[in-house]
Amino acid sequence: MQLPSLQIGKKRAKTCIIQGGMSICIALAPLAAAVAREGGVGTIGGMGINPDDLRTHIRTARQLGTGIMGVNLMYVGALFDQLLEVCIEEGPDYVAIGAGFARGPFARLQEHHIPAFAIISSPKAARIASRTPGISGVVIESGEAGGHLGPKDPHVSTWELFPEVYGELRECGFEGPAIAAGGIIDADDVRRALAMGADGVQLGTRFAMSVESSASWAMKEAWLRATGSQVEWWSPTGYASRAIVPHTDERLPRLDGVNLRCRNCLKVCSHRDDPSRSHCIRQALINSQQGSVGDGLVFSGARVGDIKDILPVREIFQQLTC
Ligand SMILES: Cc1cc2nc3c(=O)[nH]c(=O)nc-3n(C[C@H](O)[C@H](O)[C@H](O)COP(=O)(O)O)c2cc1C
Repeated sequence: MQLPSLQIGKKRAKTCIIQGGMSICIALAPLAAAVAREGGVGTIGGMGINPDDLRTHIRTARQLGTGIMGVNLMYVGALFDQLLEVCIEEGPDYVAIGAGFARGPFARLQEHHIPAFAIISSPKAARIASRTPGISGVVIESGEAGGHLGPKDPHVSTWELFPEVYGELRECGFEGPAIAAGGIIDADDVRRALAMGADGVQLGTRFAMSVESSASWAMKEAWLRATGSQVEWWSPTGYASRAIVPHTDERLPRLDGVNLRCRNCLKVCSHRDDPSRSHCIRQALINSQQGSVGDGLVFSGARVGDIKDILPVREIFQQLTC
């Protein structure tokens, strides 16, 4: 199947497939560059790495390959402003901003001619995005997505949410690309999303389960073992997210644990502010990424149980475009 191309600012990706940003060192330069080499849009997850490391990953991704490569930032991250400045200095092909919203960062990226995408999950957010200067594209992310969730109803599927939010965007006169995200894992899903009007698709879990993703093998095995019913939405920080169970309070690293201290990774964190429930989501995600899945948290999309293999990015593209 010949997929449409995707315009990102002045550049055009051969294929309208975006690899979603996945933070805490899952989507780094190797994955972003591999996706860009296949003609898709690669994205470095900017949360959970420090500004110098982000700069290094942007430069390394460029050295590893040609194609379109960007950065995903989470507005709720305490280092957001510093990471945004790195993006402005390094000029990635685009920056996607999710988990919170403010107009300022989009204006700043526009001043520096860096295309910016907003990640949204409601008709209200569509209205705001369409009025915000500097937003050149929108990712509409449903409750099936992995990681932090935007929709009020964490069970809402892409097929339910996308048409509603997309309709609002176009009614408000937004003409930029609208990308569908959440629960898209194969060529049939891609076709279905395009048939609904999407200009492209964003996939997270499918690319996390690739050879090139920087997750530990133990984390990749956890995804392979998981069934759909084991993937639940949960809120360890006050922000709803989707992860594989078990994620009981007892198992996550606690801020009062040995050698653990709060690094204030989020602007607001309900568990930091409540000492009786002081879990550290950052450490839990790092543990899984580094292989200690039993002491960690494994973010995952709702369709993980339908993905049966860890594949090189090239083969994932072959499957998505067949
Ligand atoms: C392990 C993991 C980490 C993620 N981290 C982020 C992140 O840092 N920022 C973000 O905007 N989205 C994040 N996401 C969401 C993805 O970018 C993507 O939009 C979503 O996973 C799409 O749904 P899918 O996993 O069903 O394909 C993450 C998803 C996963 C699975």
